[in-house]
Amino acid sequence: MSHRAAYFPGALLAGKRAVVTGGAAGIGAAIARSFAAHGAHVLVADVDPVSELDFDRAAGGVVDAIETDVRGPHVHPALLEHRPDVLVNNVGHFLRASQPFAADDPAQWFELHEANLGHVLRLTHALLPAMTERGGGSIVNLTTVEAHRAIPGHTVYSAYKAALMQFTRSLAAEVGPRGIRVNAIAPDLIETVQVPYAELVPAEDLPLWPAWSPLGGPGQPEDVAGAALFLASDLARYVTGGTLHVDGGTHCSGGWVPRATGGWTNRPRNP
Ligand SMILES: NC(=O)c1ccc[n+]([C@@H]2O[C@H](COP(=O)([O-])OP(=O)(O)OC[C@H]3O[C@@H](n4cnc5c(N)ncnc54)[C@H](O)[C@@H]3O)[C@@H](O)[C@H]2O)c1
Repeated sequence: MSHRAAYFPGALLAGKRAVVTGGAAGIGAAIARSFAAHGAHVLVADVDPVSELDFDRAAGGVVDAIETDVRGPHVHPALLEHRPDVLVNNVGHFLRASQPFAADDPAQWFELHEANLGHVLRLTHALLPAMTERGGGSIVNLTTVEAHRAIPGHTVYSAYKAALMQFTRSLAAEVGPRGIRVNAIAPDLIETVQVPYAELVPAEDLPLWPAWSPLGGPGQPEDVAGAALFLASDLARYVTGGTLHVDGGTHCSGGWVPRATGGWTNRPRNP
């Protein structure tokens, strides 16, 4: 990359081909929009149909879609035929209300595996050969802040997301010499259908957002799309095996919250 391309990059994904799983709504839809606005030909794979995605077409981007359940067992042939330079493994879900691990039905563990890890392994495995033939690429996996800290009540979900984080690191080391970069994004507090904070947070609790996250909240899907665009593009050409935390600061602040009287505590009296 020339200095000029680094400082004035213009459209970041012109001529690139991308696959975004779960791109009909939420974070995936924002990623698909931003990639297309930067010139990519995006193929969205979602169980739901994609209603018109609004994006700036000036850079020549395109969004196509197929309706498919990425949990398989087979990879949809259209995904193989697309031969993407960029793969965003975005589908993931905690699937059930919080409950103690001891109350789990072991059948749920397989469902959680398939929803959060199995499809990523399968699709990445299927698309890597073409990415190698094309001389490189970028893979972005959506993990969660809970791959890095605990989430009591969702122990198995967090275990699979942590496995996805470690898959990201090991694969990055393995395929780096082939020009393929692999990174993760660990979101938290992003307003989507999966976690609709507008419904979850009652009006009287809205002033508490600054206590829940250093940057307040909630975050928006577009905040995650910016991170994905960076990781997918040549701006991140020397970045691999890493995680971008798009969480308003919840990961870095750990259990620390501001005191009403000023200062900070990790022992809040009214948590
Ligand atoms: N929203 C957050 O704050 C947050 C926090 C932590 C992690 N994440 C992660 O970010 C990713 C996206 O989250 P979101 O909140 O946008 O999710 P969402 O549930 O709001 O949207 C997910 C999209 O994926 C599609 N989808 C679901 N299962 C599918 C399947 N089996 N095959 C194909 N498509 C399928 C849905 O139809 C939908 O369009 C997930 O991996 C999630 O774990 C999100």
